[in-house]
Amino acid sequence: MRILGTGCYLPKNILSNDDLQKLVDTSDEWISTRTGIKNRHIAKGENTSDLATKAARTALENARIKAEDIQLIVVTTATPDAFVPGVAHKVLKNLGISQAMAFDINAACTGFIYGMDIVNSLMKAHQFKYALVIWAEVLSKMVDWNDRNTCVLFGDGAGAVVLENIQGENQIMYASCTAIPDVDEALSSGGLAVNNPFNTEEQDHFFLNMKGQDVFKFAVSKVCESVSVALAKTGVDAQDVDYYVLHQANGRILDYVAKKLQVPEEKIYSNIANTGNTSAASIPIVLDVMNLRGKLKKGMKVVLTGFGAGLTYGTMIIEW
Ligand code: ACO
Repeated sequence: MRILGTGCYLPKNILSNDDLQKLVDTSDEWISTRTGIKNRHIAKGENTSDLATKAARTALENARIKAEDIQLIVVTTATPDAFVPGVAHKVLKNLGISQAMAFDINAACTGFIYGMDIVNSLMKAHQFKYALVIWAEVLSKMVDWNDRNTCVLFGDGAGAVVLENIQGENQIMYASCTAIPDVDEALSSGGLAVNNPFNTEEQDHFFLNMKGQDVFKFAVSKVCESVSVALAKTGVDAQDVDYYVLHQANGRILDYVAKKLQVPEEKIYSNIANTGNTSAASIPIVLDVMNLRGKLKKGMKVVLTGFGAGLTYGTMIIEW
C-alpha cells in the first residue's frame, strides 16, 4: 500500500481573529497566545460533500488516476451533510463513478489514523487496486457562534489521499487506533432527540461542548504515550523520525508535546495559524501542504498522531 497522491481544499472565505472580535468578546492577542490560530476558512454555500469532492479531485489529479479507477471511497467526518446518503455516496456521484464500495466513518479528530488503518485492511482483504480516502469537515455548522470558548478554535476544510495497493509493499509501518470512555464529557456535541409517537424528548442543540483544560490534559498525555509506544513497538529511533504530523488542535498542545518528547520544533509541521482546528481534515491538509512543498522525500519516516472526541487517539508511522 502506498500513497499515490494527496489533495486538499479550503473554502475561500477567511475569518481572522479580528473578524471574530465583531462576533464575540475576544481578541487577537487572546486567541494567538493561547492557540496559535490567526485565521480559519469558513464555508459559504458549500457543505461537507462539496469540500470532500474538491479535495478528492486534487488528490486524483496529483495521483494521475481517473475517478473511474477508484474501487473504494471512504469519507471520515463528524459533520456529514445528512444522515443518508453518506458523504462518500455523494462524492461517488459528484465524481461520476459508476460503482464502488463507499461509506463514512466518524472517529472525530482521530479520523486520519482510523481511516487509513481501515482502508489499508479493506484494500488487502478485497484486493482493491485504488482507494480514495477523504477527511472533510464543516465544523462551522456545529459551532455555537455565541460561545467564545469554542468558536475561535475551529475551521472548515478537507484533505484526501489516493492509495494504491501494491503486492509486497506497505508504506504503513505501524498503526494503532484506540478509544477510551469520555467519563467527564470533555468533548461532545448535541444531537437529535428521540422524538416519535412513543417518546417525546425535548430537542436540545447540536453545538459542540468542550472542557478545554480536560481536553488539553487528555491530548498531551495520550499523544506522548501513543508516540512512545509506536516508536518502541517498531524499533524506530526518535532521532530517525523526519516529521511529526499531529492533529492541529492547538499550538500549545503541539509545543507541549514537542518539549515532552524532546522533538526539535522544526520536525513538528504545523499550519494551525492559517486553518484553525479542522478536526479529521487537519492531518491530511498538512500532509498535502508538505507534499506540494516537496518536504516529503522517499524513505522519510513520518509519525502521525490524532486525538479527539470519543475519546479517541491513535498513531501511525509511514515510510514515505
Ligand atoms: N477570548 C477571550 N477570553 C476567553 C476566550 C476567548 N475566545 N475563551 C475563553 N476566554 C476566557 C474564559 O471565559 C476565562 O475567563 P474567566 O477567567 O473570566 O472565567 C478565561 O478566558 C480563561 O479560560 P480558560 O478556559 O481557563 O482558558 P485556558 O487558559 O484553559 O485556555 C484553551 C483555553 C485554549 C481552550 C485551553 O484550555 C486549551 O488549549 N485546551 C485544549 C482544547 C483544544 O485544543 N480543543 C480543540 C478542540 S478538541 C480537539 O480537537 C481534540
